[in-house]
Amino acid sequence: MSHVFPRDTRKAPPVAAYAEGITITDADGRRYIDASGGAAVSCVGHGDAKVVRAIAEQAARLDYAHTSFFTSEAAEALADHLVRNVPAPLDRVYLVGSGSEANEAAIKMTRQYFLEIGQPDRRVFISRRQSYHGNTLGALAAGGNMFRKAPYQPLLMDVPLIAPCFAYRFKRDDESEEAYGLRVADELEAAILKAGPGNVAGFLAETVVGATAGAVPAVPGYFRRIREICDRHGVLLILDEVMCGMGRTGTLHAFEQEGIAPDLLILAKGLAGGYQPIGAVMASKAVYDAFARGSGAFMHGHTYAAHPVASAAALAVQHRLVEDGLAARVAPLGAHLQSALVERFGNHHHVGDVRGRGLLQAIELVKDRATRAPFDPAVKLNARVKREAMARGLMVYPMGGTIDGKHGDHVLLAPPFIVEKPEIDTIVGLLGQAVDAALLSADA
Ligand SMILES: Cc1ncc(COP(=O)(O)O)c(C=O)c1O
Repeated sequence: MSHVFPRDTRKAPPVAAYAEGITITDADGRRYIDASGGAAVSCVGHGDAKVVRAIAEQAARLDYAHTSFFTSEAAEALADHLVRNVPAPLDRVYLVGSGSEANEAAIKMTRQYFLEIGQPDRRVFISRRQSYHGNTLGALAAGGNMFRKAPYQPLLMDVPLIAPCFAYRFKRDDESEEAYGLRVADELEAAILKAGPGNVAGFLAETVVGATAGAVPAVPGYFRRIREICDRHGVLLILDEVMCGMGRTGTLHAFEQEGIAPDLLILAKGLAGGYQPIGAVMASKAVYDAFARGSGAFMHGHTYAAHPVASAAALAVQHRLVEDGLAARVAPLGAHLQSALVERFGNHHHVGDVRGRGLLQAIELVKDRATRAPFDPAVKLNARVKREAMARGLMVYPMGGTIDGKHGDHVLLAPPFIVEKPEIDTIVGLLGQAVDAALLSADA
């Protein structure tokens, strides 16, 4: 009998016992290909000797030191590395324990920034439907994942939501991609004007939407217009790259492909690739200087902030990505993954879209390709795909509610960057079998 409080009391997941490369082995000896990196976490693969060594050495040298007494060499070196490799004027790094904590910190940092510069009315945050920024109350409120928000709605601050930039679902047939992008970006300006321009503090968005809508990049021009609108109204742009950052989309940072830079950049998952829990807010010089010239102290903090062992793990992972070249593998391998998905599913009756960037790809499942009608949510097609994939030794990340939090199903793929082309072909082959078996079991 387990004493762990699990995600789902009616399910007993297998016990993960051992992991190496792109596979996880359970306590019964069954092997699973980690084709989703868990939830797009594992980037350098499992059991990386350099990362394991860095963690052991750091734990032996300095296990822990509270940030109200000390900084650490590990946190300093990680921050230096991140700042050196970001092509934007983001030159301070606030280290926390997860993606949710990083978004919480960014929300509070933004609020306090406006107090520091004498704009105390700025308290409204705006974000997008079909986005996710974490499960703690502030980050949950700041997201647009209605399924996850619903039970907690009475506890959440009010965050106006604008449309996502999700062309497959919401672009009109009579408009170009560019026109669509500008139309939905302009919803931000309308929301700012409605809230009162002097009241709005920040706009949060995932640069490439991750699990909620299934690997959705914006159309060209969308983020440039968003940046213009933020600048025009003095609103901070907070880009959440918890899932799409750290090389996942083919550049170290997803925003590099949009021709803009955020005021605050949120990192987690691929920062330490799952070896330790860690998240980060990278803040612009302007934001940091407001604190330095003002009260001096950010009214925030956690016991495990800037944890030395987590920082050392993250630094070792970043060395694997940048200096050892693993991040540079993503663009060509991502192209191979996408073409393998198109080849397998491009003519599939029940796959409406294959999309994504780099090694963050998804297929969207539909009842009818022509009308793009989704399956009845009661069928729980995404859960069936997950079950069938696991039965075949394949970990993928299927999710429902792709369109509006209720309707739609997609399957996300996010393999570690060490994956090889033949392994990608195996993954796509197994996924094809799992999807077909799930459809058969759903009587579709
Ligand atoms: C885009 C995005 N932001 C924030 C989070 C929350 O991160 P965490 O689960 O580490 O709290 C996630 C997690 O899936 C995410 O994908």
